[in-house]
Amino acid sequence: MTRAPYVGLHVSSGERRATAADIVASVQREIASGALPAGSRLPPVRALEKQLGLSKNTAQAAYDELVARGLVEAREREGVFVLAAQRVDALAVTTPAPLPRLVPPPLSRPDFMPRGTTNLSTVFIDPELLPTERIAECARSVVRERIPAQYDAQGYRPLREAIAKRLRARGLDVEADEVVVTTGSQQSLDIVARALATPRIALESPVYAYAKLLFESLGHELVGLHLDPFAGIDLGRWDRALATKPSLAYLISSFHNPTGYSYTSAELRGVLDLCRAHGVAILEDDWGSDMLSDGEYRPMLRMLGGKSVLYVNSFTKKLLPSLRVGFVAASPELVPTLVAMKRLSTLGNAWLTEAVVAEFLDRGYYDTHLQALQKALDARYTSCLAQLEDLMPDGVRWTRPGGGPTLWLELPRSIDVPALEQHLARRGVVVSNASAAFVGEAPHLNGFRISYAWLSEAEMRSSLTILADALRTLAR
Ligand SMILES: Cc1ncc(COP(=O)(O)O)c(C=O)c1O
Repeated sequence: MTRAPYVGLHVSSGERRATAADIVASVQREIASGALPAGSRLPPVRALEKQLGLSKNTAQAAYDELVARGLVEAREREGVFVLAAQRVDALAVTTPAPLPRLVPPPLSRPDFMPRGTTNLSTVFIDPELLPTERIAECARSVVRERIPAQYDAQGYRPLREAIAKRLRARGLDVEADEVVVTTGSQQSLDIVARALATPRIALESPVYAYAKLLFESLGHELVGLHLDPFAGIDLGRWDRALATKPSLAYLISSFHNPTGYSYTSAELRGVLDLCRAHGVAILEDDWGSDMLSDGEYRPMLRMLGGKSVLYVNSFTKKLLPSLRVGFVAASPELVPTLVAMKRLSTLGNAWLTEAVVAEFLDRGYYDTHLQALQKALDARYTSCLAQLEDLMPDGVRWTRPGGGPTLWLELPRSIDVPALEQHLARRGVVVSNASAAFVGEAPHLNGFRISYAWLSEAEMRSSLTILADALRTLAR
């Protein structure tokens, strides 16, 4: 019978002659490192003794020990073989500590809905309305040029210049040096929140849920600013909340997510006065602007309050979500801290996409795109309102934002929204339960967003028909 060839074995023993323990340790180490896979045949005792100049029986004693530890087996007339890998747990190998317990994932929703479902509550715009061809054109032109090898954490300068120019055209005095480019508004919120020395933030309730969850996860104490989109802002109530001295108020003053509410001019001024009186800084998230007809803009806190209002906006919804480009405009003394926070989080973002957006702005494509987009959104908005009038049962109300991508649909208290959610899901319609959006109070609204920016008029009609049916069924 031919025997399997045996492996060469390196036994380390320093200057001295190897002992049985040295052989055991070396074989153990080689098995653990994978150098001696299961089935490897160890050198015959005599060969090993000869190789290492050992006294009689030393190698045999070592092999006996390895057999006893369950690492090898001696097969009669065949030799000594390494055993299968499961025996490796017999090794005295130190394992690192397991990952400590993780925090529960805060609200994890899929980024993509399953095929065949209609998302009635998304904040995204129908991809049919987005300028993918022109973006591709800009991307091709950018990659034809030399792609910069370096980056700076503040963001691609030509993009910062183009952003500042656009903001100046809207009456905001912003310079390129005051703009920090981010991977969307979410990163802007992240770097601002990380930079605060006093961990307390006031924010509307309900609010954009991922802002609330982000601030919470960074350890901020949250102060809710009660917002009823049907009644407007109760400034007296906000006064009492702001008197708790948060360091920052995070505010979505136009086309608020999730309610669609926009502050009136009196509320903008009232909120600015309150924040000034209580020493509260403002972070304004202007996500829904540029989605209002006739190229009009709503007045905003940054416009009235000046440079000390931190201002956040993003191209992700209006241009192309996958580009993930947004920015924060801050007064010059805050910029170094914000850039430092961004550096900690990502070192810097991808200049390639930033250069594509810069090219898109530079060519004037963004303005042309926004004009077309607003026209399409206006048509969808008008049609959505008409369909709601037509289809919704009595007792259902909705906000009339006049811009932005969504409105709020308010249902009678007797409707259990989670039950409705499940009922609709079975019919392929997804709505998002807004329970995570309320801050420090029980939900005072009972509904969800309706996304007229996402659905075509026909899709809107069929999902609202399903919704109306479901409401009638659940009301019975
Ligand atoms: C109000 C608001 N702010 C910020 C964001 C995050 O936007 P971005 O995609 O630019 O990170 C969203 C996303 O839906 C939002 O609704």
